[in-house]
Amino acid sequence: MSSDSKDNSRRKFLTGSLSIVGGTGVAATLWPFLTSMAPSAKSKAAGAPVKVDISDLQDGDKIDLIWRKKPIWVVKRTKDMLESINTNEKKHKDPLSDNTEQQPDFAKNKFRSLKPEILVLEGVCTHLGCNPAYNPDQNNFFCACHGSKFDLAGKVSNGSPAGANLKVPPYRFEDENTIIVGEMPKEQKIDSA
Ligand code: FES
Repeated sequence: MSSDSKDNSRRKFLTGSLSIVGGTGVAATLWPFLTSMAPSAKSKAAGAPVKVDISDLQDGDKIDLIWRKKPIWVVKRTKDMLESINTNEKKHKDPLSDNTEQQPDFAKNKFRSLKPEILVLEGVCTHLGCNPAYNPDQNNFFCACHGSKFDLAGKVSNGSPAGANLKVPPYRFEDENTIIVGEMPKEQKIDSA
């Protein structure tokens, strides 16, 4: 194989890797590929929207991916998980998502999402930036660094050192099984930051 055709194959492979296929763990392999890219392509990919195929995502499963150098989670919540989510002011610091910096307008609702069953969140603790663990059996995300707890809408519990809910990134549905992380639904524009 000539060096040109080798380069071509590599380019195709890296471009293809930006489309994430549903299923826990599959998307986690994206990051090493991105870190090996040439600077211009790497910075383009770091800010570019990421397409996520959720057609194989099962109830309770989580997909991990990277967008703008941040970990992003896509979780398919079960009926029980949705029932565990409430807006009880005694339990949460920002029960009604009043902090407008933590989600786009479309996610200022009980489930903090476009569709109740599909959750899209930045996996970054709002205390000091650790990565909380997903505990589907306990219906929460838990940050072991200093003990912050978040419900399955990313709402921070009272008593946690974190002060804000987990952030919802801009995203939209391209179709029933495809999410574009990094783009707003038609009516809303994405911040350039
Ligand atoms: Fe998560 Fe401190 S970084 S609790």
